[in-house]
Amino acid sequence: MKKLQEKDLTPARIVEELDRYVVGQHDAKRAVAVAIRNRWRRMQLSSDMRQEVVPKNILLMGPTGVGKTEIARRIAGLMDAPFAKVEATKFTEVGYVGRDVESIIRDLVENSIVMVREKARVKVQAKAREAAEERVLTALVQGWQPGDAEVELFASGPDGQASVQDLGALRVKLRQRLRAGALDDKDVDIEVADGSQALGSIFGEQTFAQTGMDFGKLMEQLQKGRGGPAPSTPTQTRRMTVKEALATLAGEESERLVDDQNVDAEAIELVENSAIVFLDEIDKVAGRQSGSGPDVSREGVQRDLLPLIEGTTVTTRHGPVKTDHILFIGAGAFHVSKPSDLLPELQGRMPIRVRLDALSEHDFVRILTEPRNALTKQYHALMDTEGVTLRFKDDGVAEMARVAAKANEMHENIGARRLFTILERVLDEVSFAGPDLKGQKISIDESYVRSRVGDLLDDQDLGRYVL
Ligand SMILES: Nc1ncnc2c1ncn2[C@@H]1O[C@H](COP(=O)(O)OP(=O)(O)OP(=O)(O)O)[C@@H](O)[C@H]1O
Ligand SMILES: [Mg+2]
Repeated sequence: MKKLQEKDLTPARIVEELDRYVVGQHDAKRAVAVAIRNRWRRMQLSSDMRQEVVPKNILLMGPTGVGKTEIARRIAGLMDAPFAKVEATKFTEVGYVGRDVESIIRDLVENSIVMVREKARVKVQAKAREAAEERVLTALVQGWQPGDAEVELFASGPDGQASVQDLGALRVKLRQRLRAGALDDKDVDIEVADGSQALGSIFGEQTFAQTGMDFGKLMEQLQKGRGGPAPSTPTQTRRMTVKEALATLAGEESERLVDDQNVDAEAIELVENSAIVFLDEIDKVAGRQSGSGPDVSREGVQRDLLPLIEGTTVTTRHGPVKTDHILFIGAGAFHVSKPSDLLPELQGRMPIRVRLDALSEHDFVRILTEPRNALTKQYHALMDTEGVTLRFKDDGVAEMARVAAKANEMHENIGARRLFTILERVLDEVSFAGPDLKGQKISIDESYVRSRVGDLLDDQDLGRYVL
């Protein structure tokens, strides 16, 4: 999904994008779209007014498998803003009780830094390229003396025989050639930062975050001032073609230029004003009955979440982050607990309540066929790789939807997730025999679906296990 600029994300546009993947659930899409738009509106206000406008957090409620998490996933792909999706239950795991809900904010900041750096990199691209050119030129003219023939530098050049009297003039000439690509294949020795810079990516930032070591900062400092080889920055002389050298050095230079910009501050500001946190499975931490067992830790999790949602300052290694204006979207099935089982303060902080509808047989037909990633499209594409053409007939799709609805009714209602098992069942044989069916067209119509799952529906016990 293409990321849209925040100002272009009108509510209608957001709903339109969500419609491509999520069937129905119009109220939920609408509420989320308005909340997101309000972020942008707030940023247009004068700064004192802006402080007053707190986000209207949302609580999405609805049975299992009807699209709550799916909506969150799609928004994540859509937003050009830091986004985190966390399961509230994660914080109730043994040994994790009450631990570190602040890590949500730290993750957002990391996320934001990646976004800001990426943007900054694009911004400094031209400058970085120029700096790289100069470094390549310097390397090319190394050892050259006024009066020397130009020819040693680029023998194939049209006026390569001329001799040049000063370095400046030579550089001007060379620069032209360089830009024209005439020197691309020439070898040059350049000083590049040593491979140690790759350390961060080998181990992954995560690993270092977990050890509590401030590795990123360390590397940043190591890499700063890499323009001229600083004593702390190990460099290495490598021979490569001019073309490769330009690319390598442009990369180095852009890293350095980006570091000079105020990435951290900008990233934190972005988190404070635009970040969205999706708190999934929040119903699983609802429940206030005092007593023993899980309830205690549930309430603990709610107590930990509360300051984040009410607005607090979280310390991160990039600086303090105020959470007052971060948008929180909670979601849960709430079939055991109710929103009123949440701590009152938490309830108050999620004033917008939206119900998602249970899915009907008709919705299943649409879910099977309409979304961009619809299951029938996925299976079609998968079998296509084997040279097998799957044709999903209308009556076949209708039958699968009917079976799904029936199975949900007979056993447990797991919403659209039922479609996964039904399709898997229906296509089991084709999937297995795939390579032997090359060149065939297989029509998935009503009778085909019946032949695959018909008796499972009739047999209560078997159906429970298989569908
Ligand atoms: N309205 C819908 N439109 C399209 N696909 C849907 C819809 N609802 C559910 N699905 C499909 O079903 C799967 C499960 O849905 P989702 O993860 O959103 O459930 P949920 O509402 O978050 O349920 P739970 O409360 O169990 O977490 C998704 O991967 C998605 O493919
Ligand atoms: Mg979910």
